[in-house]
Amino acid sequence: MRPKSGLPKRKALRRMPKFTYGFRDNPETKAYRHPTLQPGASVPQEWPTVLSFFSGCGGMDLGFLGGFKFLGQLYEALPLRIVHAYDNNEKAVETYKLNIADDASVVDLSTADLTAFPAVDILCGGFPCQDFSSCGHKLGLKGHRGELYTVMRDYMRIHQPKIVVGENVPHLERMHGGEVLRKIQSELEEVGYRFKLWRMCCPDYGLPQSRTRLFFVGVRNDLPGFPEMPTITQILGRVTIDDAINDLVRVEDESVPNQSQYFVATKATAGAGQGDQKSEAGQLAYTVRANSKARVHFHYSLDRRLTVRESARLQSFPDEFVFPHATSANIMEIGNAVPPIIGHHVAKAITDYFHQKLTVVRPIKSQTSLVGAAER
Ligand SMILES: C[S@@+](CC[C@H](N)C(=O)[O-])C[C@H]1O[C@@H](n2cnc3c(N)ncnc32)[C@H](O)[C@@H]1O
Repeated sequence: MRPKSGLPKRKALRRMPKFTYGFRDNPETKAYRHPTLQPGASVPQEWPTVLSFFSGCGGMDLGFLGGFKFLGQLYEALPLRIVHAYDNNEKAVETYKLNIADDASVVDLSTADLTAFPAVDILCGGFPCQDFSSCGHKLGLKGHRGELYTVMRDYMRIHQPKIVVGENVPHLERMHGGEVLRKIQSELEEVGYRFKLWRMCCPDYGLPQSRTRLFFVGVRNDLPGFPEMPTITQILGRVTIDDAINDLVRVEDESVPNQSQYFVATKATAGAGQGDQKSEAGQLAYTVRANSKARVHFHYSLDRRLTVRESARLQSFPDEFVFPHATSANIMEIGNAVPPIIGHHVAKAITDYFHQKLTVVRPIKSQTSLVGAAER
């Protein structure tokens, strides 16, 4: 089929992408990346500690740390320390280590001995959502992956972190008339917490993609107050798909990492936003999904599906955050991720709460000498 753009038809990258740097050691990110990603830097002991469950490639974790740029905007580094991250997917952990930190392990959390895990201030985890997703088999709590919130509950019972942030798909609210959600929330509350649900429509916070996520935010019962849900940032309008990826239209090589990587596919068809559809310029992108190539939408002006980099942009990953695997594994990691800018809004609300209600956490701006020290 002749490309509508008039540009020559492209072949997908068959080789594995190769990179000199991940986000954590790219010279371009050095001036602003998080202090814990600076070689040799030490951070103040009073910064709250975080443990990351079901960390995937680290979308939520990058958001929690902050210190990255997306579409020219700096998302400031936040006063938090991620102690360790856990996921059972080897490739996702490789991506995490390449871009964020070595403190990540391949672990099946459903069988792990949680008593041996470190105690921290904040537990976060996007527990797997396939059994709750509107596109999945909707097994709910009967599905093996639907039970994994119990790992977070068990950690909470043993180690009693001050704050808990769980993340899932909005469909969870509607399953079995809300029964699934009530059961999860009551089990999490039974171990000594009170929870609120934050339903975040991601385009309201600058994501160029139609995506809503449900955050379970919990505070230990003996602690005062509650974090404030982040306020909407996009009062003046939303960021569209072409705002986010139009500069990549003529980039066919790896001068922008992962931009030559995409699924070869026949042509776009009409659908219900579930894949095989052509994106529309001037609109939000369809939801970036974690599974097969048929879920990756077509470009709005080119005769091909979106590339790995374009998908990563739509999820708000900075271009320095690289994906080292084959297209399918990379798309899986990207589609599974909490968009970093959304994780950042949530984490900012949590650090503000810590600062105001729990401990005096010095704001990160007063830590610039620390970054400077690392650079020297
Ligand atoms: C929705 S994704 C989380 C993505 C992550 N929060 C991010 O922002 O990149 C769920 C993750 O749970 C992991 N997972 C599924 N079952 C697991 C298990 N039994 N133990 C550990 N990790 C598991 C999957 O590999 C997947 O990366």
